[in-house]
Amino acid sequence: MSNEQKITTEIKVPNKDLEKLKIHFPHCFDKDGNFQLEKFKANLTEKEINFSTESYGLDWLGKSYARLLASDPATTLLKADETHNSKPENANSENLLIKGDNLEVLKHLANAYYEQVKMIYIDPPYNTGNDGFLYQDDRKYTVKELQQLIGIDEEKAKRILDFTKQKSNSHSAWLTFMYPRLYIAKQLLKDDGVIFVSIDDNEVAQLRLLMDEIFGEENFIASMIWNTGRKSMAKLIATNHEYCVIYANLKNKQSAEEIINEDDESEVNGKLWRERKQGLEPIYKRFEELKAEFGNDYAKISNGLKDFYDSLSDDNPSKAHDHYNLADATGVFFAGDISQGTGDGGRFDILHPVTNKPCKVPNGGWRFNENNLPDLLEKDLIYFGSDEKTIPCLKRYLHLTEFEVPSSVFYRDARGAKKRLKKLFGGADVFAFPKDEEVIKKFIRFCVLKGDIVLDFFAGSGTTAEAIYQLNSEDGGDRKFITVQIPEPIDPKKKESKAAYEFVVNTLKSEPTIFEVTKERIIRAGNKIKSEIEASNKKAGMFPEQKKQVPDVGFKIFETTPIWEDYNFEAEQFDSSQTLFDAGKLTEDDIKALLTTWKTYDGIALTQDLESVDLSGYTAYYGNGRLYLMHKGFTTDSLKALLEKIDTDKHFEPKSIIAFGYHFESKSLREISENVKTYNNKKKSDIDFITRY
Ligand SMILES: C[S@@+](CC[C@H](N)C(=O)[O-])C[C@H]1O[C@@H](n2cnc3c(N)ncnc32)[C@H](O)[C@@H]1O
Repeated sequence: MSNEQKITTEIKVPNKDLEKLKIHFPHCFDKDGNFQLEKFKANLTEKEINFSTESYGLDWLGKSYARLLASDPATTLLKADETHNSKPENANSENLLIKGDNLEVLKHLANAYYEQVKMIYIDPPYNTGNDGFLYQDDRKYTVKELQQLIGIDEEKAKRILDFTKQKSNSHSAWLTFMYPRLYIAKQLLKDDGVIFVSIDDNEVAQLRLLMDEIFGEENFIASMIWNTGRKSMAKLIATNHEYCVIYANLKNKQSAEEIINEDDESEVNGKLWRERKQGLEPIYKRFEELKAEFGNDYAKISNGLKDFYDSLSDDNPSKAHDHYNLADATGVFFAGDISQGTGDGGRFDILHPVTNKPCKVPNGGWRFNENNLPDLLEKDLIYFGSDEKTIPCLKRYLHLTEFEVPSSVFYRDARGAKKRLKKLFGGADVFAFPKDEEVIKKFIRFCVLKGDIVLDFFAGSGTTAEAIYQLNSEDGGDRKFITVQIPEPIDPKKKESKAAYEFVVNTLKSEPTIFEVTKERIIRAGNKIKSEIEASNKKAGMFPEQKKQVPDVGFKIFETTPIWEDYNFEAEQFDSSQTLFDAGKLTEDDIKALLTTWKTYDGIALTQDLESVDLSGYTAYYGNGRLYLMHKGFTTDSLKALLEKIDTDKHFEPKSIIAFGYHFESKSLREISENVKTYNNKKKSDIDFITRY
């Protein structure tokens, strides 16, 4: 019931696959917990599963090392930016911006956000050769350690270590960088979550195979092609497109197409994986104008619509709907085929409403059966010709067919986003290639419901965060974002980053890193939306129903910070009876970082604050059934107060009590442990007492 843990240096991604194997194949593990592959194989073969001996896949120098990176412990703690987080707009926000290397951050998030994220959008370095991507690694493994950890020979271990120190931008280097990040990202995705990865020709081939390996080929949804209008300098073909590779994360379904959950759709009016057609508004507008001119004369209105389409140029989006050129009191429609076509449709009489004679039946028969006829007639959905000699048609209304399955190729000029970002920063050109927030919104609309979490761990200028703010402002949703950005220094010498450097140093008076641009962008985007809504609410003055609620346009900031070096050493040599580590030098901030890190490790969301609990003058922290005793000064009176509170306060039900070992005398730890044990026996409860170092 009482145990000792060294969590701080053991923050790893939980291996749920192993857990699942243990649950379903317990007999394939020996008594020391080792997995017995041969037993497992034999078991599956009995069930007629064939093991293929030849397989297809992706291999590169560093792949086994990349796997190690996905599973080795984090080397940092998480710390809150208290000044920022306590501002009124941020105090209750559920959005997150996290400063640090995303591999570290993802490891910290792996428990608290396991299967919590509905969508991931990332725009990683494309490895173009001049986008600054260089693989760097400060993990200090020796050849021997690496050999042991990943089971490779000495020569391979040496080659891998050379390669990680080389600052390479080879395909192997890029894959070694991406693999662990995507691997952990998958753990965060919900069962029906979706990941979108922007990429271009430099790494698209590698990315597809990598995604196949991590997410499974059956989870591939599409590789969208975005024509950005920006042409590359090339002698043969000027490339003006990039890709967005999309994979689902369906674990329990047969194919990615099963991602549409009918229940989910109702919440957003059937718009998941559908896009509203472009060019509708001008058609509706023209229809209203024609109605005002011709009243109920729908023949004239229909002619007017035809003229309208004729006047449009071929690339006008409304022109694509020029078959919707008929109208009645219900709206604009086109005359759809009523025949079965296959030759075995229904054959029965449909009387013409004017001549009262049976209309001509199409060769293949009607496409519906006789029972449906009264309903179609009642809803006025059959379009009759001037007499019974013309085969009738079905009315297909434009307003009922506004949504369509998105196409894999789309055009959106990349310059617009850059201009808008510049404007948001008062004219300063702070980011070289921001993505277009309208495109990110389009992706988010495909799959994200109103309360879902969206993660972007290559935040850059913070486009995904702004996209979330905008969508919530448009439809009153409460989607949340988690964005991660490394404090990458901004180079004042480079043409494309000079302005950003000057802006951050002179205007923001901050450290010249990209993180400061990300943070400022999100602040500015939030302020813009807030003032827009406030201004329009002011205008709406007398019509309260037109007023909009300002969505959550705040965000909380956390950052990674290295674990104290001697603490690491202590933990490695862990022996709680010999406390070499001098905890006396830890500051209040250090203790807070430890608490933030532990609570996240324990599955408590970063945006959830712990409650301070007073135990006879000693402050403890409580949340999600866990009570943290971090400080020095826990007395016998505190213990009494604690047990009394558990006994009397209905809302206080700790399942675990976690003490920071270095701040307790061993006598005191024993006293707590024994008292908790006695309490458990007396009250038939099951409270754990854990000492962490
Ligand atoms: C191509 S940009 C993303 C641009 C972004 N989509 C936008 O619209 O502005 C990639 C970003 O990832 C950041 N980055 C690169 N490696 C990272 C890492 N290991 N952890 C976190 N961020 C990283 C870079 O600093 C850069 O800002």
